[in-house]
Amino acid sequence: MRIDVYTIFPGIFRSPLREGLLGKALERGILDIRIHDIREYAPGRHRQVDDAPFGGGPGMVMKPEPIFEAVLNTLGYGWEELDRLKEEVRVILLTPRGRRMEQSLVRELAEEEHLALICGRYEGVDERVLEHLCTDALSVGDYVLSGGEFAALVVIDAVARLVPGVVGNRESLQEESFSGGLLEYPQYTRPADYRGWRVPEVLLSGNHAAIAEWRRRKAFEWTERHRPDLLRGGGLDPQAWGEGGD
Ligand code: ADE
Repeated sequence: MRIDVYTIFPGIFRSPLREGLLGKALERGILDIRIHDIREYAPGRHRQVDDAPFGGGPGMVMKPEPIFEAVLNTLGYGWEELDRLKEEVRVILLTPRGRRMEQSLVRELAEEEHLALICGRYEGVDERVLEHLCTDALSVGDYVLSGGEFAALVVIDAVARLVPGVVGNRESLQEESFSGGLLEYPQYTRPADYRGWRVPEVLLSGNHAAIAEWRRRKAFEWTERHRPDLLRGGGLDPQAWGEGGD
């Protein structure tokens, strides 16, 4: 999968893309992630990327020209090819105004061959970027970050781990939170007794049916307590969770 990222702070991406699963996937060529500095495509000696909002109000708005120029130039499309670009590449603006990202959308994006992530900054991005260049506007949650960079990293991480070859053990993707509409059951490892805090006996029993049943119940209880909206939302898919569901 190829991901092009457009930002005025390319340095933010250096370390996160060198470490862990992402770092390995990039090294092995499973992912091709390219970070582009929007400022390099801004005109004039001052390379201005933002300006005051029409109509007044606080803060600055990111100008359209450097963003269009950066995307078209780096992806190799002409002005008359905007429609083709949007058919061939998912062009995503990260913004708190966007559709809230959930695991179902992460799965959808993981099927794509090519993503372009545009990181908004300041008080916003000129709306013509959204209208004429982007296929999607995405938010990573109902809170406001200082810019789209950390949101883009969240998208990259969540999507990349579903790309075949990035996570070594595919089974670990099947029983994780959200995979069947529930949050994940609790996990324990050695020692079985730590300062008198014992691991639930059933997990030590070797009885796989009992363990599966315990995990299903715990996942349900935890979800009910912390995210009752997931149970009400109809996202529950017992068949996709645990041993066949019920
Ligand atoms: N930029 C600022 N806040 C954001 C959010 N919650 N999601 C995506 N991009 C953002």
